[in-house]
Amino acid sequence: MATQSHHRILQCALLLVIISCSFGVNVSAATNFSIAEATVAELQAAFKQNILTSRQLVEFYLSQVLKINSRIRGIIEVNPDVLTLADQADQERWAGSPNSTSGLHGIPILLKDNMGTKDKLNTTAGSFALLGSVVPRDSGVAAKLRATGAIIFGKAGLSEWAHYRGGPPSGWSGRGGQALNPYVMSADPRGSSTGSAISVASNMVAVALGTETDGSIIGPSYANSVVGIKPTLALTSRAGVVPITARQDTVGPICRTVSDAAYVLDAIAGYDPYDTATSTASEFIPPGGYVQFLNASGLKGKRLGIVRNPFFNFPNGSYMAQAFQKHFQTLSQNGATVVDNLVIANISMILNSSLSGEAIATSTEFKVTLNTYLSELVSSPIRTLADAIAFNLNYSTLEMIPQYGQSLFLAAENTTGTSNPVYQAALANMKSLTENGFVKLMTDYNLDAMITMNDTVTPLLAIGGFPAISVPAGYAPNGAPFGICFNGLQGYEPRLIEIAYAFEQATKIRKPPSFLV
Ligand SMILES: *[C@@H]1O[C@H](CO)[C@@H](O)[C@H](O)[C@H]1NC(C)=O
Ligand SMILES: *[C@@H]1O[C@H](CO)[C@@H](O)[C@H](O)[C@H]1NC(C)=O
Ligand SMILES: *[C@@H]1O[C@H](CO)[C@@H](O)[C@H](O)[C@H]1NC(C)=O
Ligand SMILES: *[C@@H]1O[C@H](CO)[C@@H](O)[C@H](O)[C@H]1NC(C)=O
Ligand SMILES: *[C@@H]1O[C@H](CO)[C@@H](O)[C@H](O)[C@H]1NC(C)=O
Ligand SMILES: *[C@@H]1O[C@H](CO)[C@@H](O)[C@H](O)[C@H]1NC(C)=O
Ligand SMILES: *[C@@H]1O[C@H](CO)[C@@H](O)[C@H](O)[C@H]1NC(C)=O
Ligand SMILES: *[C@@H]1O[C@H](CO)[C@@H](O)[C@H](O)[C@H]1NC(C)=O
Ligand SMILES: *[C@@H]1O[C@H](CO)[C@@H](O)[C@H](O)[C@H]1NC(C)=O
Repeated sequence: MATQSHHRILQCALLLVIISCSFGVNVSAATNFSIAEATVAELQAAFKQNILTSRQLVEFYLSQVLKINSRIRGIIEVNPDVLTLADQADQERWAGSPNSTSGLHGIPILLKDNMGTKDKLNTTAGSFALLGSVVPRDSGVAAKLRATGAIIFGKAGLSEWAHYRGGPPSGWSGRGGQALNPYVMSADPRGSSTGSAISVASNMVAVALGTETDGSIIGPSYANSVVGIKPTLALTSRAGVVPITARQDTVGPICRTVSDAAYVLDAIAGYDPYDTATSTASEFIPPGGYVQFLNASGLKGKRLGIVRNPFFNFPNGSYMAQAFQKHFQTLSQNGATVVDNLVIANISMILNSSLSGEAIATSTEFKVTLNTYLSELVSSPIRTLADAIAFNLNYSTLEMIPQYGQSLFLAAENTTGTSNPVYQAALANMKSLTENGFVKLMTDYNLDAMITMNDTVTPLLAIGGFPAISVPAGYAPNGAPFGICFNGLQGYEPRLIEIAYAFEQATKIRKPPSFLV
């Protein structure tokens, strides 16, 4: 199998990286500081106290990758330069460089494999069809990360083509193989940012980035008990990210804590000349950034709405019903007003991508946008969606990968462009559903957020460009995680972070995975 041999190659490459370093990270010799589970703020504090170096941090994560990655397949490639980058970060800090003691400076971050990096790493969206393609430059988010001094650790596995091929299951890609849920290995890991979520969950890296077009950050975040922020559309740049549609694509943090996610959002949000939509969206960024909203009293005075149907429709007395009953009480006890039994007009239409128009609009846009992305690569084995389709057909017949289909690719290739009246009607329908639905609910009841669970809500977020944060909310009897999700109007990130952080601090539900079978 191509995938198995790829994993042997990754293991060998890692061994080469590690052999060159003096092994035996013993950061805890002088103190009881432990890297696993440490937050970005704690890591920065440890750097400052000289009880930790970026090199030690990276060596720890490399050893974790060697131990864990072959079991759960979160990471496709480790950056061959990662130790050199760590040494550079340490030197900048020791030289007293003014911006080297905060934010993500010296912190390793994992990028989903659809995010371009102009370095030794490949950018393939998990597909062998893009292996060897050369990107013109760093993606907007990679450039911002490098500018803050973050260390690009590697590329994460994902549902191939960010789950827009149509066929392969969540977490599977030709290059990465099947990524697994580290809590219950047989449980659905969700996708498409599966590798980003499972790698931070199992402490293979400090923090990660995912992308969401419809559910791809919120889904794997809840399923793997981590925190995911799906930002307002274009708050973060999509330039240099293998696209689905600029009308819905977003890049956001996937981390173990709300605090880490706020640090990552600060590093990546803002204007990028290569994604002009960031110009208006960056007006949402508050002066001083997002970290200031990590306030344990952040639930005080907040108004939170509950739409029971369809977001909390489990039977009374079930463990889910009990868990959320308790969570709603916690939210009230911490100063929020919970407004229950609300209704969103035409919610079943909003959540059904065929009825809302989302499916046909996305399909139409994907063909145009992907062809543009492929044409702008410096070099590439494929140049069009049609080439990608031919590659998949050919590749499957070589029997190197399972015979997964490509129904979304085929449907997109069949679309006839954005002047088609069906496409125009789809856009108008989504706009009307959004204005008369979620926007009306939030303004009529003066809400700061709507509460949901799992990823049922994501089509509503997708078609409206709305932000959301998923936070760990518990574990099913079999050990599989579930989450609570706070959803807001565009630009509501500050209050969503306040709400999510206060909930997290009041409950402290997340625990590291134990790899149950
Ligand atoms: C060790 O941990 C304890 C409890 O978390 C803390 O109070 C103490 O300051 C730590 N010691 C050092 C040397 O960091
Ligand atoms: C990128 O892909 C090429 C071609 O397969 C491979 O030789 C190289 O090792 C890959 N890069 C990394 C960092 O894995
Ligand atoms: C960090 O400081 C150096 C020197 O002052 C400056 O050149 C660089 O642009 C700064 N980087 C950031 C991200 O502010
Ligand atoms: C935290 O939130 C509380 C309640 O809204 C507020 O009174 C306080 O000023 C906030 N703290 C900070 C540091 O913003
Ligand atoms: C998500 O939550 C909804 C509402 O409670 C429920 O109907 C649905 O079955 C859940 N889906 C998953 C995958 O857990
Ligand atoms: C659950 O219980 C509440 C009252 O506690 C009741 O209003 C509601 O109808 C019940 N729901 C179901 C699905 O039985
Ligand atoms: C199909 O596979 C053959 C044999 O590996 C190769 O020569 C050819 O270029 C492939 N065609 C496409 C469209 O990928
Ligand atoms: C492509 O379009 C034709 C004509 O509208 C239709 O019959 C066919 O089912 C479509 N194929 C796919 C894969 O959508
Ligand atoms: C709900 O959808 C129906 C059918 O498309 C439409 O007639 C109605 O106006 C919609 N309601 C609202 C409040 O948007």
